[in-house]
Amino acid sequence: MPNILHFECSRCGERLSADKPQNVCPKDAAPLYVRYDLKSIKASREMLKDRPPTMWRYREVLPEADHVSLGEGFTPLLQSRTGANVYIKDEGLNPTGSFKARGMSAAITMARHYGIKKVAAPSAGNAGGALAAYAAAAGIEAHIFMPKDVPQVNAIEAEHFGAKLTLVDGLISDCGRMVAERKDREGWFDLSTMKEPFRVEGKKTMGYEIAEQMNWKLPDAIIYPTGGGVGLIGMWKAFDEMQQLGWIGSERPKMISVQAAGCAPIVKAFEQGSTASEVWANAQTISAGLRVPKAYADFIILDILRKSGGTAVAVTDDETMQAFESWAREEGIFAAPEGAASLGAYNKLRANGFLRADHRVVLFNTGSGYKYIDVIAKYYGRNKPPLPKSRNIGGIIQPY
Ligand SMILES: Cc1ncc(COP(=O)(O)O)c(C=O)c1O
Ligand SMILES: [Zn+2]
Repeated sequence: MPNILHFECSRCGERLSADKPQNVCPKDAAPLYVRYDLKSIKASREMLKDRPPTMWRYREVLPEADHVSLGEGFTPLLQSRTGANVYIKDEGLNPTGSFKARGMSAAITMARHYGIKKVAAPSAGNAGGALAAYAAAAGIEAHIFMPKDVPQVNAIEAEHFGAKLTLVDGLISDCGRMVAERKDREGWFDLSTMKEPFRVEGKKTMGYEIAEQMNWKLPDAIIYPTGGGVGLIGMWKAFDEMQQLGWIGSERPKMISVQAAGCAPIVKAFEQGSTASEVWANAQTISAGLRVPKAYADFIILDILRKSGGTAVAVTDDETMQAFESWAREEGIFAAPEGAASLGAYNKLRANGFLRADHRVVLFNTGSGYKYIDVIAKYYGRNKPPLPKSRNIGGIIQPY
């Protein structure tokens, strides 16, 4: 790899060659980071001006390989119409409608570069959809395992992109076990969350974009819907890289994880002062992407939350759907429930004083609500919130 020095273990610092594909550290099974020779990289902020509006505009800090791209990244950072210092990073505009496109573009780029023919991953939904699309674009065989109750679109898109889809009667953790059990026998390269180093590389570009779109002055806080935590970990890495490149100083935003009350292992561990999380029993939430009972890189997420002076917040599904409504009506954004949870968390943190009106805060809408029509319709079928006289949700006219 021309511009990559090596992989580095996030726990013990062990270095591994990037000349061949790697999953996790052979010593302690911790996630690996991609390291570049940042000192010798000649890249300035000014160089970005004329580059195409995709995540690959940061090419000096991404692998130098033939990109498998569908135009991912450089999504809008919208100024909220209701809060002067609130910004919404709208990741719903990515290919396949979620920020998972970034990680999969980078991971599949490298899978093709290494000559890998078959990949596999467990997914809460959107990662599987994105993986299937990029695998199709690269001519790679994808084996995807999703819980059987994922949002319908995730299963439909994965199959139409030509992936081999298995719907599992269980959670993403059960799907992960299936990949682990079968991958050697089947010759699959494992692309599970935080078990290969390049999904973080794709997702870190969200950190570069926020810096560039905010004119190189990072916000005071970032609220990130956290399942496996790839984006949070990636952005934190991006800030360190940008500092080494001389693009930003040592200031850092408070990194804030939002999770669903029905599956909040990171929030619980943060509140208990633990360095790792415990498996969350009976995980249940409308925010499919947040239904991750235990993040593989929980220790890294918790470390970042603490180092940055951030926090972790749980929001109920009702709070999420209230936020969903308010973004739709007040901002014109049709958010994924996971994304709307960011606004739920922001409201809570304003109410308890953790955040003030003068704090510049970026809320992540991690995906498009258009992928959740069945989920949204089901929610309103069960609950009757104080909404207008009639609404048309998923083709169903619901009287109130
Ligand atoms: C829309 C959406 N938001 C957030 C997440 C959680 O992402 P991460 O695993 O990077 O924490 C997911 C994961 O599936 C998702 O689909
Ligand atoms: Zn290690």
